[in-house]
Amino acid sequence: MDGNGRWARARRLPRTAGHKRGVDATRKVVRACVERGVEVLTLFAFSSENWQRPKVEVNTLMELFLSTLRREADELAEHGVRLRFIGDRLAFSPKLQRQIELAEATTSERCDMLLNIAANYGGRWDITQAVRAVIEELNSANVGSEQITMESIASRLVTAGMPEPDLFIRTGGEHRISNFLLWQLAYTELYFTDVLWPDFDEAALDAALVSYAGRQRRYGKTSEQVKSAHRA
Ligand code: IPE
Ligand code: MG
Repeated sequence: MDGNGRWARARRLPRTAGHKRGVDATRKVVRACVERGVEVLTLFAFSSENWQRPKVEVNTLMELFLSTLRREADELAEHGVRLRFIGDRLAFSPKLQRQIELAEATTSERCDMLLNIAANYGGRWDITQAVRAVIEELNSANVGSEQITMESIASRLVTAGMPEPDLFIRTGGEHRISNFLLWQLAYTELYFTDVLWPDFDEAALDAALVSYAGRQRRYGKTSEQVKSAHRA
């Protein structure tokens, strides 16, 4: 979700005003995804690198997380959204950690859509912690490194058990992955838009979905193979 700062600057507002509008956009997009039958939505809210931003901005973002969780958890649950935080949450204040746990518990019942919030998340961190967990398991079971497989690593990523993402959307005109779900995006369709996150609305979401619908996913096969498998 990129472009909050530029959205604010264009209006001569402080960056934090952009983040607040970003929360509004997020609320609408989450709703729109539920309506469209999206099963899993993962939002990159705060990267492990974002701690390097000015202290006031980091503090504002933390306050926004806290207030948004407090305000939205019940309504998300009512809409059948299950919330999960993926990332190293131990870096957050105890208060925010408690609110995260509470929001996860509040929304744990129904799951029409799983909403992953990637917070203090990094793709390299994710792969590293997964490999570490696999190795620890191997050591305690006294088995060899041939037991390290793509499946065993995937089963230790924070997205274990979830389908791989079909579509990746990056707003704000940047053409980068920026350490998002590195392992998981191997075959994901990538979509880049100049729309700044606070302006990302239903129409912008639908444009991304239309683009996705026009793609042919080959997973290394030829176009002809994919077509004949489709006919079969
Ligand atoms: C997004 O927008 C989000 C967060 C990291 C929370 P930015 O703050 O990166 O906005 P720009 O890139 O400065 O416009
Ligand atoms: Mg940015």
